[in-house]
Amino acid sequence: MRILSGVQSSGRLHIGNYYGAMRQFVQLQDQGEAYYFIANYHALTTVRDPKLALDLTRDAALTYLSLGLDPKKAVLFRQSDVKEVLELNWILGTVVPQAHLERAHSYKDKIANNISPDFGLFAYPVLMAADILLYSADQVPVGKDQIQHIEFARDWAVKFNTQYVPGYDPADPEGKERGHAPGILKLPSAFVQEHSATVPGIDGRKMSKSYGNTLELFGEEKDIKKRIMSIKTDSTAVDAPKPTTDAPLYDLLKLMLPAGEFSDVDASWKAGGKGYGDYKKKLLEAFHATFGPARQRRQELLNDPGELERILQDGAQRARAEATRLMDQVRRAVGIP
Ligand code: TYM
Repeated sequence: MRILSGVQSSGRLHIGNYYGAMRQFVQLQDQGEAYYFIANYHALTTVRDPKLALDLTRDAALTYLSLGLDPKKAVLFRQSDVKEVLELNWILGTVVPQAHLERAHSYKDKIANNISPDFGLFAYPVLMAADILLYSADQVPVGKDQIQHIEFARDWAVKFNTQYVPGYDPADPEGKERGHAPGILKLPSAFVQEHSATVPGIDGRKMSKSYGNTLELFGEEKDIKKRIMSIKTDSTAVDAPKPTTDAPLYDLLKLMLPAGEFSDVDASWKAGGKGYGDYKKKLLEAFHATFGPARQRRQELLNDPGELERILQDGAQRARAEATRLMDQVRRAVGIP
């Protein structure tokens, strides 16, 4: 089984990225051939400062490794180190209906938030599909906000195969039956963990770099504390049972505490008797307990920048080998010499 996913280097990574996606990346590296990358071309749709773009790319690589990604098991690389992705992006784009891009949630959300769209933002899902299809991924671990993008990748792979592979039957995409040919582009599936599909931010909306409501994985300790203490709560009295819906503090405790510890918290939350401040302290402790070891590893890696670059170069080489193989087939199919 081929697993592939990526994170954009458009800001410091946060616990939404971790619980929604990166925790699964680390678990899945033992279950198949895993490819993980830093989507630094995608990041250019929001980061316009070259120094920052470089810094955030490196920061994302460090974050992967600090969280437990093992470069001996998984292939870790920068999107921009495999230029074939840009070629597939173009070729795939020729079979993508414009109407699909117009209905993309990510695009519609940005428009709704008054961000004036450029071509990069509009075409974002095509490059993402190219990322996935270039490596013939089976499973793509992501948070809920990315599911539509993976469905697009599937649809467009079918379109491409139908157009260009003689004997391809969309009802038999792997060409298992006599007379059918397998597609060149493999159909991927989203792998989503239901309980962490959407991690709430400190204001109760989805945690997102663009809302400024994140808890950064490696944020300064003072800042983390301030942010946890400012998690949105209601005015329920200390003695009263606390509501469990529309309660980001409750959801975050559930996500971060070990199951046994959470069941005690859950009981007292529902019984009443403790104030929100106590629960915030509990969450802060859980944050440090969970990410303390990763913080330590990150420090070690920071002291050895040569090692980080070596890992990325090695990953790029392994990813490129795979990309070259697929692009040979794609070029032949469409008639590019
Ligand atoms: P990005 O960088 O926005 O987020 C990286 C991953 O983190 C997940 N995530 C969340 N999950 C749950 N709750 C949240 N609050 C939350 N915030 C973020 C995202 O769902 C994602 O899985 N387009 C992608 C990057 C990308 C990619 C790819 C992913 C580019 N090419 C190919 C998979 C395959 C993105 O912007 O993710």
